[in-house]
Amino acid sequence: MKNKSLISINDYSKEDIIRTLDLAEGFEKNPNQKLLEGKVIATLFFEPSTRTRLSFESAINRLGGKVIGFASKDSSSVQKGESLKDTIKTVSNYSDLIVMRHPLEGSARYASEVADVPVINAGDGANQHPTQTMLDLYSIRKTQNSLENLNLFVVGDLKYGRTVHSLLMAMAYFQTSYHFVSPPELRIPEEYKMFLQKKKLDYHEHTDFSDIISDADIIYMTRIQRERFSDPMEYEKTKNSYVLENTMLEGTKDNLRILHPLPRVNEINEDVDNSNKAYYFPQALNGVFTRMAIMSSILGLQ
Ligand code: CP
Repeated sequence: MKNKSLISINDYSKEDIIRTLDLAEGFEKNPNQKLLEGKVIATLFFEPSTRTRLSFESAINRLGGKVIGFASKDSSSVQKGESLKDTIKTVSNYSDLIVMRHPLEGSARYASEVADVPVINAGDGANQHPTQTMLDLYSIRKTQNSLENLNLFVVGDLKYGRTVHSLLMAMAYFQTSYHFVSPPELRIPEEYKMFLQKKKLDYHEHTDFSDIISDADIIYMTRIQRERFSDPMEYEKTKNSYVLENTMLEGTKDNLRILHPLPRVNEINEDVDNSNKAYYFPQALNGVFTRMAIMSSILGLQ
């Protein structure tokens, strides 16, 4: 992983993933190591973010590194018409590693091709969000004591949900049984179904989920993403498709945990927050430890 960009979760083998999760466990036990002293890391966010940007920056600060960057393209020279290539070439001069979020699918791969330092994809459009997946895997392993042979229910916007696309690919290493719950308009894209078929993995598609979650180990809720719709009417039609409520958790397995990459809009009722099955806020904390592990591995410090 040393000096290699992380663009897709497929860039990591099963062994790379396990090693990263093990390193993250070490950081959870001892987060105040000064491994990044003398390093400058650029966080370039062309799209809004709370968790991804701030957990990266928290991880960098706790490890003694320095952060430069911008939280919006409006505060960069992109606003004056500068190209992505010129922006990345320039920031490569100022930093040891670039973390980038951008609305265009493929932009992170392109940035890694023109950058002189490694690039971490912090989300490229509806394509991939590999560091989110690493924290999702960490959260699943921590709560289930294993990643193998789990029943994973993924609910919501499966068409545009980049966290879903990365997660389903990573979980394919672990003999997962998948249940995809979405409105017909937001079904999981064919390319991901073909990926699972090639791996001979079991998957089922549903449009309703209240009656089928009794054997779920993980329910991964997602937001219907207004910003990805070209037709506002399509968003209006689908926005309230699924709302998880506490009463729906009766009869579910003791080990069930509810995950969500966040932000949520209304797809998890606040009455679920006090359930011991709700795990989405600890999940967001796990982003600090997993991003510590990813950055220190890429910089060759572990
Ligand atoms: N999960 C996630 O990517 O959240 P943010 O958009 O707040 O970074």
